Amino acid sequence: MIKITDQLEFHLSTKNTSYIMKILDSKHIGHLYYGRKIREKNNYDHLLQNYTLPLGNATDYSTETKHFTLDSTPVEVGSYGKGDYKQPSIELSYKDGSTVSDFLYQSYDVYDGKRNLEGLPSSFANEDSAKTLEITLYDSIVNVSLVLSYSVFYEKDIITRHVKVINDSKEDVMINKIMSCNIDFQDSKFDLITLDGKWIKERHINKKQLSEGIFMIDSKRGVSSSTHNPFMCLSRPLTTESNGECYGFSLMYSGNHQGSVEVNPHQLTRLQMGINPFDFMWTLKPTDIFQSPEVVMTFSSDGYNGMSHNYHDFINEHIVALHWQKKSRPILINNWEATYFDFDEKKIVKLAKEAHKLGIELFVLDDGWFGKRNDDTTSLGDWFENKKKLPNGLEGLSKKINDIGMDFGIWVEPEMISVESELYKKHPDWAIKNPNREVSFGRNQLILDLCNDEVVEYLFDILSDVFKRSKVKYVKWDMNRNFSDAYSNVLPSNRQKELNHRYMLGLYNLLEKLTKAFPEILFESCASGGNRFDMGMLYYMPQTWTSDNTDALERQMIQYGTSMVYPISTMGAHVSAIPSHQVLRNTPIETRYNVAIFGLLGYELDVTKLSNFEKKVIIKQINYYKKHRQLLQYGRFNRLNTPFDSNITTWMVSNKTQHIIGNYQKLQVPNEGFESIRLVGLNPDKDYEINSREQYFNVKSFGDLINQVSPVKMKENGIVHQLVSDNYLFEANKESFEAGGDELMYAGLKLKHQFIGTGYNESLRHMGDFGSRVYLLEEKN
Ligand code: DGJ
Repeated sequence: MIKITDQLEFHLSTKNTSYIMKILDSKHIGHLYYGRKIREKNNYDHLLQNYTLPLGNATDYSTETKHFTLDSTPVEVGSYGKGDYKQPSIELSYKDGSTVSDFLYQSYDVYDGKRNLEGLPSSFANEDSAKTLEITLYDSIVNVSLVLSYSVFYEKDIITRHVKVINDSKEDVMINKIMSCNIDFQDSKFDLITLDGKWIKERHINKKQLSEGIFMIDSKRGVSSSTHNPFMCLSRPLTTESNGECYGFSLMYSGNHQGSVEVNPHQLTRLQMGINPFDFMWTLKPTDIFQSPEVVMTFSSDGYNGMSHNYHDFINEHIVALHWQKKSRPILINNWEATYFDFDEKKIVKLAKEAHKLGIELFVLDDGWFGKRNDDTTSLGDWFENKKKLPNGLEGLSKKINDIGMDFGIWVEPEMISVESELYKKHPDWAIKNPNREVSFGRNQLILDLCNDEVVEYLFDILSDVFKRSKVKYVKWDMNRNFSDAYSNVLPSNRQKELNHRYMLGLYNLLEKLTKAFPEILFESCASGGNRFDMGMLYYMPQTWTSDNTDALERQMIQYGTSMVYPISTMGAHVSAIPSHQVLRNTPIETRYNVAIFGLLGYELDVTKLSNFEKKVIIKQINYYKKHRQLLQYGRFNRLNTPFDSNITTWMVSNKTQHIIGNYQKLQVPNEGFESIRLVGLNPDKDYEINSREQYFNVKSFGDLINQVSPVKMKENGIVHQLVSDNYLFEANKESFEAGGDELMYAGLKLKHQFIGTGYNESLRHMGDFGSRVYLLEEKN
């Protein structure tokens, strides 16, 4: 797993990958290789290409190491001032004003397992699942040490990295930039994939070819953001979902981050990830240590799905808290899109009763239950119930929900404060705002200063009280604005640039305390949907509200992109009303469900207004989910067909003997050809029974063709038509057959043809606009 030779070559190996470094003659750490596994050897010197004659315009590192220039040498730490002109991974400044750093090898240490990062989320391992290498470097001119940590998760094909800076000098040292990882590849033939977006359009896949220059993603928003997820993937040209080589880099951090890829004139590719150096400066006092967040790196030669599998397994087994690992997640109903702020106890209880009849297990009371909150202008910070809406308090409501037979969950947005609140009257100084400027609002609210320990203590106490009183089994932790007017009343002027990171440390401290105090509560993090979907939050809260966009078509893209890194067991996904509140689109109820089951299923609509048709359909949907819940939440997920450049989206989830496939179309295509789906992960030597899930149409979707499909004649839009449409479940044609695993993988799952405009019979597969099908494959003995 970690082999170190006498010449100080470090070979970190996982089941399928190798990561090789070497201490160079100059004493810098050279990067020799990362990729597909190569055999153990005692010498990999030949992997490092370098110039042996003077290079025009180059800066020689020293007179002893003649012609050796850092600019063309792949290294593990990029520093400024000694001839490396690429982006530095560390930038320090010292009392004399100088900014040159030069970190040289001093020692190394290897141990079994992995130590937690203090105050930051970090992946965990026992002594068998990981080994850690720490390499200490030292700059003897300024007396600063740098410790590079590499934890190798053999079975998972994952290596995590982070960096520690230690001030061994007698004077303050300023950290201007400290990246968690710097990796130099010796060529530049890569595509870069990033997950980008915005509110209600998160984590769309963007792919571009690398070329000379610097490409950067970042967040200055104080949250990891939906603009750019803290993730980058480098892949070799022509890599597909199931073939080809790719590398993933994911930063376990929920605040301002930066990821960059630079291709220099020597075609060296340098990738870095870490805390955003923008608006960041940290004063490191003598003996102080600064620790960067962790980067989770992986490599796969089995295409993008291979990379995602590594991440999914890693998150499920080394990031999500042990208590929640592989634990069934409840089907919930959330009242937000059903009521917004307009509810009272009576209405909530009515919704809960109806939801319970449908088979839903948990009721989540969303925004608006506290203070004077009837819209989004007031009361954040006043975490006591609005007695007008909830005369029996949270305790009373929770009891009523429990008596119905459901668990109770609650929404909070603890990091925020409204100016119109009791809390603001008492502690205006607790809000992040500059005393000399008019403050800018986001969603009418300000952010609490979590750099202040008093605020963290206050939130811990008040939230603990709410959670205890209301006996919640689930908490939705929301966060609805980006940072502005950065200024903390508890930081001196020369430390204001520490605010963003100190805020994160305060938040992580609060989450650590709360999740320790309430280990049985299932926390779901949310930030106007997916504005903070990252590994850092998943360490404390095992699931995230993927997006405020619940439209079934948009969700295909959002969930497809999100799954590049995050397993479906982390993605909240709800069935909501139509027209969609985000895009005003009408999609069939079966498609809304077929998309949401490839996530953690919930319903978010006024269930008291459902037609009998919808109720009957939902009951069937919920039963199906319950029957296949473990497979749907924790099965091996594979993307098969991307929604980003085609009309069809396909994905599947598998365990050893069962597979569920989701197939969706955007628009009905006239006179369409045949479709077949090449599946993955089956046993070629076994046969499978294939059954489409029972699905139903509302007869109204056939318009005035109803009399061509119905045995009973009826007048379009007449009383009978309405009655039938409200109550009758018109079953979509079933597809049911047997096929071999080899046929299904190599020839494909052959689907029936669709509606082609000439009639309707038993053997067509009617989908319509935004239609979809779900198939269950079961291995035969
Ligand atoms: C934003 C969230 O993403 C929504 O689901 C909802 O909880 C609202 N906030 C409530 O204000």
